[in-house]
Amino acid sequence: MKISVISAVNKIRAITISIVMIPLFLTYNVYGQVAQRWLKSWNKANTMKPSKISAISRIAPENEPGTPFVIKGSVFTPDETPAVGVIVHSYHRDAKGYDFGENDAELDTWRLQGWAKTDEQGNFEFKTIRPAPDHIGREGPHIHFTTVSDMFGRQWAKKVFLSDDPTLTETQRLDAKKAGKFNWIADVRETDGIQYIKVNIKLKKKGDF
Ligand SMILES: [Fe+2]
Repeated sequence: MKISVISAVNKIRAITISIVMIPLFLTYNVYGQVAQRWLKSWNKANTMKPSKISAISRIAPENEPGTPFVIKGSVFTPDETPAVGVIVHSYHRDAKGYDFGENDAELDTWRLQGWAKTDEQGNFEFKTIRPAPDHIGREGPHIHFTTVSDMFGRQWAKKVFLSDDPTLTETQRLDAKKAGKFNWIADVRETDGIQYIKVNIKLKKKGDF
């Protein structure tokens, strides 16, 4: 009797450990792989960073096919005052929906990416083209941002999606709206064939990577 109680306790313990550890192990691995490829791309991008970075910059070159697109951005400190001199890195898919060149297999860093540095008002701007949705339909058009500053380290900002994306759900729109001026679904306005969005980024107190 005593032996069977002990073995039952051991079985429960083994099942409990499996329930906790297997998802943890899987999460770590999936995240680990994604993060490793991402970090490799970012590190490569960092080696290509221009020596002089200005507040107004480009992501796609002027001859890149696609709808002209302007991202006007502002960066704020965690207490929401303008963050001056913050380096902003940004990248997005091209008009065919690729990040890494043809079939997403050509390059080891993003093909369309750029660097800007916030001015005295905490503002920056990127001229580029409108990204297409992911070529295999996983996500609508969006733009990534990371920030680098002495005070707050290297950070991911929330991915910015576009208001005219029909794949965004009502729940996503409501959730984004709750962030107020840090809404991560940007309104797209168009003038003379050029599309514009405004993006506000709030820095966290500590870096992410
Ligand atoms: Fe993306």
